[in-house]
Amino acid sequence: MSDINNTIALIGLSWGDEGKGKMTDYFAQKADIVVRYNGGSNAGHTINANGIKYKFKLIPSGAPLEKEVIIANGCVIDPKILLEEIENLKNLNKKVNLKLSSTAHVIFPFHKTLDGLEETSKGEYRAGTTKKGIGPTYSDKVARWGIRVFDLIHPDVLKPKLERLFKIRKELIRVYDPNWDADFESIYNEYKSYGEQLKSYVIDTAYYLNKAIDSGKKVVFEAAQGNLLGIDHGMYPFGTSSNANALGISAGTGIPPKKIKNMIGIIKAYTSRVGEGKFPTELTNRTAEKIREQGHEYGTVTGRPRRVGWIDLFNIKYGIMINGIDKIIITLLDALQGVNPVKICTTYELEGKNLESWPIQHEIIEKCVPIYKEFKGWDERTREEWSEIAREGYDALPDNLKIYIEAIQEELKTDAAMISIGPDRDETIVLDNVLF
Ligand code: IMP
Repeated sequence: MSDINNTIALIGLSWGDEGKGKMTDYFAQKADIVVRYNGGSNAGHTINANGIKYKFKLIPSGAPLEKEVIIANGCVIDPKILLEEIENLKNLNKKVNLKLSSTAHVIFPFHKTLDGLEETSKGEYRAGTTKKGIGPTYSDKVARWGIRVFDLIHPDVLKPKLERLFKIRKELIRVYDPNWDADFESIYNEYKSYGEQLKSYVIDTAYYLNKAIDSGKKVVFEAAQGNLLGIDHGMYPFGTSSNANALGISAGTGIPPKKIKNMIGIIKAYTSRVGEGKFPTELTNRTAEKIREQGHEYGTVTGRPRRVGWIDLFNIKYGIMINGIDKIIITLLDALQGVNPVKICTTYELEGKNLESWPIQHEIIEKCVPIYKEFKGWDERTREEWSEIAREGYDALPDNLKIYIEAIQEELKTDAAMISIGPDRDETIVLDNVLF
């Protein structure tokens, strides 16, 4: 068992889109391996490096740096999207150093069909999914008739399993849409071909990763989505279908909890949310429009405008507890420029009393009133000026921004390891060197 301090996990503490892609890329510079352990092509991870903007749905964010990237067993794989991302990287002359778990589950076209139909049938309980088939694929995994990557790369194993799954799913789809049909042979042949193309990447990632960690390799675990979207500890049912938090790492990779040493929580200077569900600090006024524009808050996967609001430290405190967060990273501080005043939600009031812990159930949350502290905003800067500030360091930040950052740390009783003031890799200020 390794007692080397060589693993770090980057967890989004809100509803996703906290800037995990950028921060993973940052840590990947000194890491050996970057691992995705939950979700699939519902994630949108954006990286800006050396004038190129990369957008990944599935491949871990260490790929532009040609690091070893692992898609572990906790993920669900859309092979078509994975092959497209591999191709795109190759077209940019990037070496693709990918390993894919043989026990990850595979998304089929009928999962996407079901995702849409189930959403519609849920009415007011719909989560506003990305319609990438994520939920139905995890459902099949739990029902134990799902199809793994191992099956995908063995056509003789795939055929009978897919025949059974296709029959089961066709019956369910026809409950919603009696005229629905699809051609089994063409799905089978298409996926057989994906299996052939992906075969060389497939290994037992749990064994590989454990050995790598024990030998001292530096590993970054890159979460997808965010703590509040997680299936067990998020705002159910308005979330995703995997454990989008630190608790998902062990199950999603086969790495025991004691080997995951450094837990870093990524939070944004404000909050955003895509899809449905309560959002206590949501803004719908001109301030919201300004933040949305300045933060480019449009979904990477779906293009949907994201809902935005004030930072909610009450639910972030909950995330710090659930994930055992050691340090935080605050991103998109530049995107709040020119907003005055800025507000921080510290707790919720329910029936005249301030709550002690975040209430989790959306039926309670909708009755709560967020309680705010107000701060003076900071002036707008040009992109070049923000880059210059990043080069100069923390002291060069506008005074009111420093007060805001310090107030967040004080309220959370957690120190910031870094702050991010722009989309580029270099627009990052390190306050405390965590690990590597
Ligand atoms: P699904 O993961 O496609 O099933 O969507 C479930 C919920 O999670 C919806 O509200 C989505 O908008 C949200 N969601 C899924 N992936 C992401 C992400 O990467 N960022 C933000 N929200 C996400």
